[in-house]
Amino acid sequence: MVSLKNFCAVFVIFVVAFMDEVKALTGPSHGKVVVCYLGTWSVYRPGRGSFTIEHLDPALCTHIVYSFAGLDEKTDSIKSLDPFQDLADDYGKEGYQKLTRLKHRYPHLKVTLAIGGWNEGSLKYSELAKHANRRSRFVSSVVDFLRKYDFDGLDLDWEFPGKRGGAPEDKLNFLILVKELKAAFSKYNLLLTAAFGAGKDTIDAAYDVKGLSLYLDFIHMMCYDYHGAWDQKTGANAPLQSSDVLNVEFSINYMLKLGAPAKKLVLGVPLYGRTFLLPEPYDPESGRKPKLGAVARNIGFQGPFTRENGFMGYNEICLEVKNKSQNWAKFWDSESKTPYAVSGNKVLTYDDVQSIEEKVKFAIEKDLGGIMVWSIDTDDFHGDCADVGEDGHFENFPLMRAINKAIPKSIEDRRNSVQWTGVNTSGAGSSSSLLFLVAMAIALFIKF
Ligand SMILES: *[C@@H]1O[C@H](CO)[C@@H](O)[C@H](O)[C@H]1NC(C)=O
Ligand SMILES: *[C@@H]1O[C@H](CO)[C@@H](O)[C@H](O)[C@H]1NC(C)=O
Repeated sequence: MVSLKNFCAVFVIFVVAFMDEVKALTGPSHGKVVVCYLGTWSVYRPGRGSFTIEHLDPALCTHIVYSFAGLDEKTDSIKSLDPFQDLADDYGKEGYQKLTRLKHRYPHLKVTLAIGGWNEGSLKYSELAKHANRRSRFVSSVVDFLRKYDFDGLDLDWEFPGKRGGAPEDKLNFLILVKELKAAFSKYNLLLTAAFGAGKDTIDAAYDVKGLSLYLDFIHMMCYDYHGAWDQKTGANAPLQSSDVLNVEFSINYMLKLGAPAKKLVLGVPLYGRTFLLPEPYDPESGRKPKLGAVARNIGFQGPFTRENGFMGYNEICLEVKNKSQNWAKFWDSESKTPYAVSGNKVLTYDDVQSIEEKVKFAIEKDLGGIMVWSIDTDDFHGDCADVGEDGHFENFPLMRAINKAIPKSIEDRRNSVQWTGVNTSGAGSSSSLLFLVAMAIALFIKF
């Protein structure tokens, strides 16, 4: 005979199974965070480089970070840096609400707002963080602003405390600011995250890592820009390893050593590369493999969409290296575990599916919270570089898809490589479902 209790337990199992199905359709189901920064000025790029909120595929991200808002120093409040794109006033494009409304169709999605960024500089934030009354005005303005536009939280992108005109006491003041923000956010269940510079000197000058780890929900490690034309030699934008401290593994291991909990660290991966110009063109007939570290000029070249010297989006890079008339030679650098390409006196260092898989593998081995990208708008979002199948099918967002495939694969590989004994037969993902089931069963038991 089937008792009501048993019937309910079975019903719960079905509901949970069904929920898992729905979850798999709407967002990443691997249990790690995938944080997608969106640089909203990408809408102004020409032609097929122009990225609007309609181009987003929220199934590829757990979090989307709208970048950037700014600081109004006169009122100590957070403000839109592009009211026409962000707001609805004066027939604006309503970007804030367009993005936060995506949560209705994608219930898994968290949408947060970033404040700061490179162009905002450091000084304004240094001055703000110094004074208790100014911090307090700022904190309440942020809470009101986030709630007004239905954001799930704030991402702090002060680049960087103690640097670029900042003061040594920024390190302590930043911690105090974060603590005060968190206290105000708790009441409304708002997320508080921050983007951290990955260089050792920045980490040392800017962050009280242990203290900040108490209050931040996630720390987005900007593990890129290790090398660029400014070095006056070629180098990987985001080397996984190197003989010095300028590499992804060092940055992450250093943060762990300073007391950051692995689960709160999110490894940032660049969806862009760096460009260099050699003094002499490379001769592919020479039979010699060009090496990274070669002397280069102090400027690079630019892409047709992003139009910024020394920088190219992956969507530009993949088109460029495919262009037969350009004669690009592609190479793999085994130390940095990244690809590079050379054509004449032009050099491109970047990340592709393979280098991103290596980075994801490292993040999973370290049991980090997940992966972040800067930025989703320079993935090949149209699928312009994709191979088209016989049925006409092709995939867009190749790098975002690579991340979401590599995460469960790396988790599986890691699980298989560990010698499980005793009760450790289930992994993190399924054990949380199991826990949920047990909790539901207990709840039902108590109820009936
Ligand atoms: C390939 O490069 C040539 C020469 O720069 C350019 O004119 C052409 O538009 C490029 N083709 C594509 C598909 O980008
Ligand atoms: C099971 O895993 C946990 C953490 O993953 C570990 O601390 C514990 O020692 C493991 N138990 C056995 C019996 O291997």
